[in-house]
Amino acid sequence: MMMTMHPQDQEFPLGICLTTLILLGSFVSVGGAALKLEAPADVGATVLNHSMSLVQRMEGLLAAGNGSDVTLRVHTINTDEVKVIQAHSLVLTMQSDVFEEMLLNRINGTVVLRETPDSAAVFDKFIRYLYCGDVSLRLDQAISLHKLASKYHVWGLQQGLTQYMTQHLSSDSPTGHVVGWYNYALQTGDTSLRDSCLQYLSWNLSSVLQSQEWGSISEDLLLSLLQRSDLILQSELELYEALEVWIDQNQPETKTVETALRAVRYGMIPPHYLFRLQKQSALMQKYYESIRDLLYLAFQFHSASPITLAKYFDVNCSIFTPRNYLSSSWGSPWIINNPTRDDRSFSFQTQLGPSGHDASKRVTWNSLFSPRWLPLSARSTYTEMGAMQPTRTDGGRPRIIVTPATSSADFAGVSFQKTVIVMARQQGKVVVRHVYNFHQSTEEAGDFLAGADLQRRASDYLIDSSLYLHVVIKPLYHTLLVARK
Ligand SMILES: *[C@@H]1O[C@H](CO)[C@@H](O)[C@H](O)[C@H]1NC(C)=O
Ligand SMILES: *[C@@H]1O[C@H](CO)[C@@H](O)[C@H](O)[C@H]1NC(C)=O
Ligand SMILES: *[C@@H]1O[C@H](CO)[C@@H](O)[C@H](O)[C@H]1NC(C)=O
Ligand SMILES: *[C@@H]1O[C@H](CO)[C@@H](O)[C@H](O)[C@H]1NC(C)=O
Ligand SMILES: *[C@@H]1O[C@H](CO)[C@@H](O)[C@H](O)[C@H]1NC(C)=O
Repeated sequence: MMMTMHPQDQEFPLGICLTTLILLGSFVSVGGAALKLEAPADVGATVLNHSMSLVQRMEGLLAAGNGSDVTLRVHTINTDEVKVIQAHSLVLTMQSDVFEEMLLNRINGTVVLRETPDSAAVFDKFIRYLYCGDVSLRLDQAISLHKLASKYHVWGLQQGLTQYMTQHLSSDSPTGHVVGWYNYALQTGDTSLRDSCLQYLSWNLSSVLQSQEWGSISEDLLLSLLQRSDLILQSELELYEALEVWIDQNQPETKTVETALRAVRYGMIPPHYLFRLQKQSALMQKYYESIRDLLYLAFQFHSASPITLAKYFDVNCSIFTPRNYLSSSWGSPWIINNPTRDDRSFSFQTQLGPSGHDASKRVTWNSLFSPRWLPLSARSTYTEMGAMQPTRTDGGRPRIIVTPATSSADFAGVSFQKTVIVMARQQGKVVVRHVYNFHQSTEEAGDFLAGADLQRRASDYLIDSSLYLHVVIKPLYHTLLVARK
């Protein structure tokens, strides 16, 4: 896929203004008159806009090398490949202080540059950007260009590339690109890109686990993913099976395998599967001793009620904490057509909890979506007479409340955290855009669908004029406040 990127800060027009200033500057100094760059806006003037043909001329200038005053010899490190570019010091200096420094220190008309093979491969594109202010690139060229932009301090291009990467996490690529971008961001200390990649991987984990990319993730990335409670995936069993694949492919040292295996939330795997793993998974058999305590704890978890369990264990630990599982025992998708039209309700069932003790119990949930809900305080105002007056009902915000259809004694010792996963379209793909956690109402989250602008037909949150949600119910066990035995 070829993408054309136009930096929003209009690199090229800026370049032209500076050129004009510099050229005029040398004349002006003779006449001694002051020249202002910012002329007052011409009221009623017509713009003749030939910037496109100017860009074409600049491109031609680079291609033909007319009037070149510097030769760039680009050596590919560890090879004898050399690329020669006839360039113009004015353009290079204008775009990059690194080039400026090099050109000041040059002895003759040649500047020798050394680049890695991947940077050398995109060097033409990079130089072209300096002349023309635009660049077309593929997913696999983003890092090389970003490296060049950073090395030569071409900040506009660097920022544009970071933005490009953040927006193309979900694009198709044969071998995957997000893990590579994550590693690059880690290495360069770009925390915002790193976090975007990590969040993307966490929120799209089922796809990642099934992709070729999964085997290539680093140990550090694997362990940081395993720690997270916000992973979105089918089930904990899916994660365990993917971990087996990763360990098989990477053959890491024992300590890593143990750390990874201890990060699996065994309590979230139903006991009959857990038993099967214990008997049939070669990996689990090999490392049985290092996770024996966790398996024992998980089986205890499966055989007791929440209240009983809390008497003996600190239940506030990760082994008992669900992640965002998409399988049907944990929640349900909810597609709301024309969401701004009116309030919508929806019922679905989940298991009472992940414990084998509650395996046969179900809870029915009622959820209510209101497109324009107003908090009570905003709904009516007191007039001078002290009477209540209803105000206009528009201007409210979307809200979802999720409540159990019946209350039950079985709920003792458990509270239910609700998570609403919101999908949106990005670069033509349906991706997870937000995850909201709350107990009863999305009001608790504060910013539910803020900025989604559902009234607008073109809102990215509307997929075929529908809002795509997935509601997950996560039972959380309470720790008893009394001293534990
Ligand atoms: C001139 O045209 C280009 C595209 O043809 C456009 O991006 C730019 O904004 C225009 N400039 C002005 C001053 O109208
Ligand atoms: C460059 O020079 C050649 C002749 O040497 C000329 O034909 C061509 O038009 C020039 N190009 C530019 C962009 O000035
Ligand atoms: C220019 O200077 C470099 C050293 O900076 C040298 O290697 C090169 O041979 C010189 N080229 C010419 C044409 O003198
Ligand atoms: C559970 O533990 C986490 C940290 O491990 C802590 O932040 C949280 O407040 C604890 N919750 C309860 C209810 O004790
Ligand atoms: C997950 O990634 C795939 C491509 O790897 C993409 O097609 C899909 O839209 C993504 N889904 C989500 C929920 O992010």
